[in-house]
Amino acid sequence: MNMMKNIVLIGFMGTGKTSVGKLLAVKIGYAFVDTDAKIEEDNHLTIPEIFAQHGEFYFREREAEAVKAVAAEDNMVISTGGGVVLREENMAALRQSGCIVALTASADVIVERTSRNNDRPLLESENRRRAVEELMQQRAVLYAKADYMIDTGNMTPLQVVEEICDFVRRRGDFRA
Ligand code: S3P
Repeated sequence: MNMMKNIVLIGFMGTGKTSVGKLLAVKIGYAFVDTDAKIEEDNHLTIPEIFAQHGEFYFREREAEAVKAVAAEDNMVISTGGGVVLREENMAALRQSGCIVALTASADVIVERTSRNNDRPLLESENRRRAVEELMQQRAVLYAKADYMIDTGNMTPLQVVEEICDFVRRRGDFRA
């Protein structure tokens, strides 16, 4: 088995990957990287700008590049965009680089959390709930391939961090 170097957070939009990832990194003394933030920095465009100017395929190409780069690092907490699971090459690189934790939440929670802002092009439809349900249904099987899943619906980010730490301690891979 490979030494586990990174902790990778996957999951649908609005499941808390970025907030949890930042807190987790501070707690265990790892560096934090968010693939969406890296894509924005590397391309000097926001995610909505990338989708609007270049389309989803172009974004997925940039995402695959960002994943490849971060998966080559160690001692990182890596938060990913919700669609990272769509390419098996992404998941293979991330799995090789560490353990994969999926954060989940119900459609109700996702709709509530994501309606606070307009930075998710795939949810900018007239019926956000339907968009969430359809995408969740398509992707559920992909998120379920994680090493560990946590339903964040009734949890604070700190509670989620504690649960991830318990999981990695049980595995014996980390100092956490
Ligand atoms: C996407 C999720 C977003 C972002 C992009 C596409 C997706 O990230 O990568 O808007 O396909 O689920 P978050 O999960 O951080 O919102």
